[in-house]
Amino acid sequence: MIKVGLIQFEPKLGKPVENISTLQGLLERAHGADLIVLPELSNSGYNFESRMQAFELSEEIKSGDYTEFLTAQAKKNNEYFVSGINERAENKLFNSSILVGPNGLIGTYRKIHLFMNEKDIFEKGDLELKVFDLGFCKTGMLICFDWIFPEVWRILALKGADVICHPSNLVLPYAQQAVPVHGMINRTFNITANRIGTEKSLTFTGQSFISDPSGTILKMASLDKAEIILVDIDPQKARNKMITERNHAFNDRIPSAYTFLTQN
Ligand code: ACM
Repeated sequence: MIKVGLIQFEPKLGKPVENISTLQGLLERAHGADLIVLPELSNSGYNFESRMQAFELSEEIKSGDYTEFLTAQAKKNNEYFVSGINERAENKLFNSSILVGPNGLIGTYRKIHLFMNEKDIFEKGDLELKVFDLGFCKTGMLICFDWIFPEVWRILALKGADVICHPSNLVLPYAQQAVPVHGMINRTFNITANRIGTEKSLTFTGQSFISDPSGTILKMASLDKAEIILVDIDPQKARNKMITERNHAFNDRIPSAYTFLTQN
């Protein structure tokens, strides 16, 4: 068994130093977990006034304060963290997620499916969907609005993810229903770490959760409070893809029947 978890909190728009200090307190309280997931854009907040504001609040992953903070914390507590981050890469901005551990930065995912005004600010993700073997489990990352595209969940599951980490800033009410179903269909554990609070016209929906390979929600946070959720899971359960004794979630697929999907 391993201990996985999430932190639901309210990143403050334009307050990167305050966000780090809020997270420092919360991460100390989550000490003892193996893998913890934090919300989307945890360093900067979400609802930017302009691309310029987003740019000022972004950082290069390899040299930025936020990655340095998370990496130091991972080292100190011997834990792994996944977090959303407002990433600057030369002149481009990406809505990204990083995976860090006791030995530093392990991987980055850049959000592929941009939601609403994000299209005016960020580039579409340009990195391959990857699965990282942490030894105690295999994990991959998706971000928020990726929830509506079953293809990306399937790809990570086919690549061997036991646990899919899903930093989010959700405003629609559907993902808390849809993401456990992706987990049921692909037989993965899913961790959706959502944020709380309101930024101008957007109110975020909280209710972060961890679901299992049967689609059951193991624990869910409140709508509007900062919370830490921790759950013990057996990642081996995600490696059993049998739906019945004669049906395998992956081997029973008939790709030749799905060619329409790649032509449209
Ligand atoms: C979203 O993708 N942040 C709704």
